[in-house]
Amino acid sequence: MIIAKTVAQVREQTAKWKADGLTVGLVPTMGYLHEGHASLVDKAVSECDRVVVSDFVNPTQFGPNEDLEAYPRDFEHDCALLEKHGADMVFYPDVSEMYFPDAATYVEILSDMPKMLCGKTRPIHFRGVCTVVAKLFNIVTPDKAYFGQKDAQQLAIIRRMARDMSYGIEIVGCPIIRESDGLAKSSRNTYLNADERKAATVLYRAVTLGKRLIQEGERGADKVTAEMKKLIEAEPLARIDYVSAADGVTMEPVDKLDDGVLVALAVYIGRTRLIDNFTVGE
Ligand code: PAF
Repeated sequence: MIIAKTVAQVREQTAKWKADGLTVGLVPTMGYLHEGHASLVDKAVSECDRVVVSDFVNPTQFGPNEDLEAYPRDFEHDCALLEKHGADMVFYPDVSEMYFPDAATYVEILSDMPKMLCGKTRPIHFRGVCTVVAKLFNIVTPDKAYFGQKDAQQLAIIRRMARDMSYGIEIVGCPIIRESDGLAKSSRNTYLNADERKAATVLYRAVTLGKRLIQEGERGADKVTAEMKKLIEAEPLARIDYVSAADGVTMEPVDKLDDGVLVALAVYIGRTRLIDNFTVGE
């Protein structure tokens, strides 16, 4: 596996692959890779001739009081996982390689989409995500790019950004990968102590409850999210950020849980903010 530290190295290699008629898949990550990331790499390897994984903790998507400094990093472990799963290149740039000191250009969706759900408490987050993903698209020029459904709002926003900016890149969403007790895999799970780790299953318990109520015929968004909130509030270590039903494409709030609606939640377990979701009818 090639380890590329510079934009020029990535450009040179992907240009060679393309000249040979090979398709290129991109899996953008912030490193500290787990089975969730591995599933994206597996999917990319199965669909593309060459796979590039970016491993970059992107400072522009963290708010001033968020966990940029604390965000876990382990590049050696990441390389071992990527080799095992058949990635061809890892792009591991320094911040100075990705951002000029006087960088002043951002990619931002100017509808309400990035202000909904996670955007309420993370106002600059999706601007940072769109900017770094647009840069990665420009650097790697992939045919396809792979993102997890766990970050459902991010996936919807990137689909919109790729469409609006005419990237011509296929955006592939991949299912949530869970621990055996249902907790969605996340690099941030590492912040949880033993008690918090147990409490964190409340997100999946809420997802399961929501799905069950819908299967039993309840289609009122307020009713289902109220029951999910009640379950979460019974967990002493949990504090709800939001439990909401939104249009799966626009992220606008909805009243009725029709197929395709996204039911998403963000919950603090101690100081750690975790997210989960499901799509009605899936
Ligand atoms: O989902 C992530 O890990 C990040 O938001 C992404 C897409 C790699 C952009 O930094």
